[in-house]
Amino acid sequence: MKLVVAIDGPAGAGKSTVAKRVARELGLTYIDTGAMYRAVAWKVLQSHGDVTEEATKEAAKDIDIRLSYEGEKMKVFVDGTEVTEAIRTPEVSRNVSAVASFGFVREKLVELQRRMADCGSVLMDGRDIGTHVLPKADVKIYLTASVRERAQRRAKELREKGHDVELAEVEQEIAARDKADMEREISPLRQAEDAILVDTTGLSIDEVVAKLMALCKGAA
Ligand code: DC
Repeated sequence: MKLVVAIDGPAGAGKSTVAKRVARELGLTYIDTGAMYRAVAWKVLQSHGDVTEEATKEAAKDIDIRLSYEGEKMKVFVDGTEVTEAIRTPEVSRNVSAVASFGFVREKLVELQRRMADCGSVLMDGRDIGTHVLPKADVKIYLTASVRERAQRRAKELREKGHDVELAEVEQEIAARDKADMEREISPLRQAEDAILVDTTGLSIDEVVAKLMALCKGAA
């Protein structure tokens, strides 16, 4: 039986960490749509240095984005170049919301995401999956946590990767990204009416995974 799971929520809510595990346990293909917007932002920055509508149009025109999987590891390629790590830098994080606010970028990526979901059972995470990309998903989850806790998690992750970051700076950046993602005109981040709210503040990864597994199993 085909199962389609949509997980939305703000930056740093733990979506990709728990989504990867739940997808593996249930045998679903995990699709990280944030990585696709990051891939476009990376290409714009690479070719132009900053984000403008013109530069984004040029970069998005015939961009080839591929997600490939080796076990639990997902690799991201843009026009044949591997960008798995390069799309996670603070510079890409600061610029990705601007890129994701352009309608022509969203249309292109949403079409690609829907095609990926047609291929079988998937778990897709992002900002507009339950509200726009896959409105008929079997399970819709809205994952969130306090801004402070999300900033702490993101700062830890970045430090582990060798980036020298201040918590206050990461918190500011997350709050700015929340605002941009929730207030943009096209497909803003919001909880779908039929989505289940899961607040992960104070919960461990194992606890969140268990909650999500129970919700998905209930729908299967
Ligand atoms: O999940 P993430 O932090 O990697 O996402 C990066 C950015 O991409 C996020 O700030 C908003 C945008 N995004 C989006 O607009 N729609 C999606 N479905 C996924 C991400």
